Amino acid sequence: MKHADVIILGSGIAAMQLAKLLHSDSHVIIITKSLKNHCNSYMAQGGMAAAISPDDHYRLHYQDTLEAGRRHQDEKAVLNLVKDAPDIVCELMSIGVPLDLDEQGQVALGMEGAHSRRRIVHSGGDATGRRIMDAFFNSIPSNIEFIENEMAIELILSQDGVCRGVQTKNSNGDVNEYFGEHVVLATGGAGGLYHFTSNHPSVTGDGLALAYLAGAELSNLEFVQFHPTLLYVGGMAKGLVSEAVRGHGAVLRNNEGKAIMESIHPLKDLAPRHIVAQRIFEIRRNGDEVFLDITMINDFKLHFPSIASLCEREGINVERGLIPVAPGSHFLMGGISINDFGETSIPHLYAIGEVADSGVHGANRLASNSLLEGLSYGKRLAAHLNQFTRKSAAPTWRLIEKSGGLACPKLPERGEIKRRMMEGAGIVRSKEGMEQLLAWLESFHIDEYLLRSYKNWDIEEISVAFMILSARMIVSSALKRTESRGGHLRTDYPDENMDWLNCHIIHSNHGMHL
Ligand code: SIN
Repeated sequence: MKHADVIILGSGIAAMQLAKLLHSDSHVIIITKSLKNHCNSYMAQGGMAAAISPDDHYRLHYQDTLEAGRRHQDEKAVLNLVKDAPDIVCELMSIGVPLDLDEQGQVALGMEGAHSRRRIVHSGGDATGRRIMDAFFNSIPSNIEFIENEMAIELILSQDGVCRGVQTKNSNGDVNEYFGEHVVLATGGAGGLYHFTSNHPSVTGDGLALAYLAGAELSNLEFVQFHPTLLYVGGMAKGLVSEAVRGHGAVLRNNEGKAIMESIHPLKDLAPRHIVAQRIFEIRRNGDEVFLDITMINDFKLHFPSIASLCEREGINVERGLIPVAPGSHFLMGGISINDFGETSIPHLYAIGEVADSGVHGANRLASNSLLEGLSYGKRLAAHLNQFTRKSAAPTWRLIEKSGGLACPKLPERGEIKRRMMEGAGIVRSKEGMEQLLAWLESFHIDEYLLRSYKNWDIEEISVAFMILSARMIVSSALKRTESRGGHLRTDYPDENMDWLNCHIIHSNHGMHL
């Protein structure tokens, strides 16, 4: 049993920003289920949006964010986010992140979908996430203890309903307990619930399941963003081809060489992601293929070294100028409901980054607002937690004891969940498809097992059970929202409906409500 002032679950950008900004005399434990760089932040290519150019203003960034999110946002949260961005750019430089510069020695600004100005700061061309994370990892202060290869399996609550810590399990089957004054979920989203995804395979919705089982509120889980361009080889999605490539002029074409975004949206290839993803999905459903034409980009390898080497590894020669692409799940807009600084509905439990629903993304996230969200909310939560005195004392409260466990029931393979999610709750959804999928997910009666003790199950069994739980919340929310908005597209309700604009579907272990 260990004690800390702050326990952070996950090691992505939100986690690292928070840990770095906490008082240096507070004992912080970061726990991650695999290695610390096995996270989406490390893989982020595009960059971080910030209105820093002389022809830009945070008000424009605000408008673009609202428009992409179909105005399903908390406007105050969006305003705070875009106002934070310019300072965060300076802070990244001050910790040694080598941002790319233009010929005048100014921070180079890229273009991405649905932005009205060039405002994407980047590093190493398309290695922005890795460069930022390396800057964090290379300067971990001594008050931070890193624990790798332990999966958080349950949040520990006291009888007064306060979060007091977490139980973990390692691959040897050892169960450990960590107690903390404050517990932070920064475990990322749930892209790995889908067969085609840009996400690290470890990102399968654990944080959502942990929060749900502890009784926290979750919201807007139907809004899943599908990135239009994952490299598609041999029937599989192999990794991200950044939107920045289209920002550099690349054009999406079908088999016959026709530009597929002409006449679909005024911004053509740089239309909001859900529109481009849906267009590619329709074309591919009709048996056609889609390629990213990069022939007009000089020095592709220089601008996009990570994408060029991904293509090379997968046998695609970028010199030929055509990259085969397909859409795949990329980002979860909803998550654990939080306030301005990451507080959840459970005292002393916080959530930041993709696992949280901060209200900034609405129905569809604007490109390059995710690293920004992680950095902004990591900073906000650090400012909040730094107000408290540090204790690290032995616990004096009484814990909730769970009743005796049941053996793990027969669960499906991960691959089956992912295929069914892609089919039934993917880019285009229908009532029948979602009903069938939901009935299948419910047939495992997973809550009944997880509301009792399951610490004797092995890690794979717990992971799959968490996947079923998170998938079930996503699908039931999607079925309930009888309209299409942003990332949520239904064939039976193809239009936005004003009545749904301000409705947020909430989940907790007491049920689902608006
Ligand atoms: C990309 O590089 O296309 C992804 C960036 C993002 O998701 O914001």
